[in-house]
Amino acid sequence: MLVSAKDMLNKAKAGHYAVGQFNINNLEWTKAVLLTAQELNSPVILGVSEGAGKYMCGYKTVVNMVNGMLEELKITVPVALHLDHGSYEGAYKCIEAGFSSIMFDGSHYPIDENIAKTTELVKVCSEKGLSLEAEVGSIGGEEDGVIGTGEVADPKECKAIADLGVTMLAAGIGNIHGKYPANWTGLSFETLDAIGQLTGDMPLVLHGGTGIPEDMIKKAISLGVAKINVNTECQLAFAEATRGYIEAGKDQSGKGFDPRKLLAPGYEAIKATVKEKMELFGSVGQA
Ligand code: 13P
Repeated sequence: MLVSAKDMLNKAKAGHYAVGQFNINNLEWTKAVLLTAQELNSPVILGVSEGAGKYMCGYKTVVNMVNGMLEELKITVPVALHLDHGSYEGAYKCIEAGFSSIMFDGSHYPIDENIAKTTELVKVCSEKGLSLEAEVGSIGGEEDGVIGTGEVADPKECKAIADLGVTMLAAGIGNIHGKYPANWTGLSFETLDAIGQLTGDMPLVLHGGTGIPEDMIKKAISLGVAKINVNTECQLAFAEATRGYIEAGKDQSGKGFDPRKLLAPGYEAIKATVKEKMELFGSVGQA
């Protein structure tokens, strides 16, 4: 059964580790993440962007696929199904479809509007027992085609949003989605520390988990980050592994490609990536 991310994140914050959010794009991705979490006895969050939700035939299809896998694969570790960077309308659609966790990304609205919309969603999500992530200060890079520049959030605005009763808070601290450019100046730990001081027990979320050096990941966790999002790294691993298969010409001796065999190396590559991240984030054995 899908669970809210609230308990797993409060536990992670108190225990000084982070739960990984791995974005899913198809069946193989989802199966790889769930089975790795089960093997490592780690809680996990499945992230679904609005674009990926559309690709996978809508949020209801995603909910049913994930619930089916939880049962058929006998997954017993805590699993949250989380809308990633949801719009206001997308948030309501996912609540309706049966997601157990929602991110409302109001970072592009003026702060008053972000507060008003987040306040409303706090009420709806808490009535239904769902966890809610809010964002302050847009995360750079590309989010479903929207390019941001790696803003640094205002700690006071973070406190204002945290005080609304959200479950977790994503704050821009110079992190960006996708690969980091060579001239990236790194995470602003000063900002993260200031946000942590003002928001107390609130689990903080680090987006753009791909390509952040290990020492920065560990420092971010020590300063209150309890959830880390990874997407691009799984995509790169999947592409690399399946590309090799096609180039090797393993086409079933002229019978064409069997998608089960074609995607198998990608599935294994995602499992390996998820395992590496769960070990780095410290969530292994925490289910
Ligand atoms: P990456 O694509 O950089 O791993 O970031 C993922 C993310 O933050 C999703 O919200």
